[in-house]
Amino acid sequence: MTRASMLLLMLALAGCGERPLPAGVQGNPERGRVALTQYACRACHMIPGVTGSEVYVGRPLGGLARRSFIAGSLPNTQENLVKWIRNPKAVDPMTAMPVLGVSETDARDMAAYLLTTR
Ligand code: HEC
Repeated sequence: MTRASMLLLMLALAGCGERPLPAGVQGNPERGRVALTQYACRACHMIPGVTGSEVYVGRPLGGLARRSFIAGSLPNTQENLVKWIRNPKAVDPMTAMPVLGVSETDARDMAAYLLTTR
């Protein structure tokens, strides 16, 4: 390997702070982090990497990947997360979480972010 290509490789590695996506998880976690801010999910949930005040309306979403179930009943898969984020009332009509009009793509990216944060 030449010096120049070595340097390029080092730069590429240094610039790549992102964790690889877990198997089966799709989407763009960095876009998801931005979307979580834009849709103001942080008004009710504490989320690692998204700043805001201390709130406990919904559960903190850190370490979501380690949970077996979301919202008490849904098996924790990316597909189910997308379903919940887009229309929580369809899963549980009594839930206090509002339907926020999240697009499919935004929900997928949010789920990708939530499934990669610790
Ligand atoms: C008005 C407050 C509120 C807002 C805004 C809100 N949520 Fe929630 N969320 C809740 C509540 C309350 C629950 C608990 C529902 C339950 O368990 O039935 C919940 C549950 C969840 C869960 C399941 C968590 C778990 O531990 O089981 C996820 C994931 C989630 N919300 C993601 C989001 C995302 C993403 C957004 C933004 C698009 C968002 N929420 C916006 C109140 C909110």
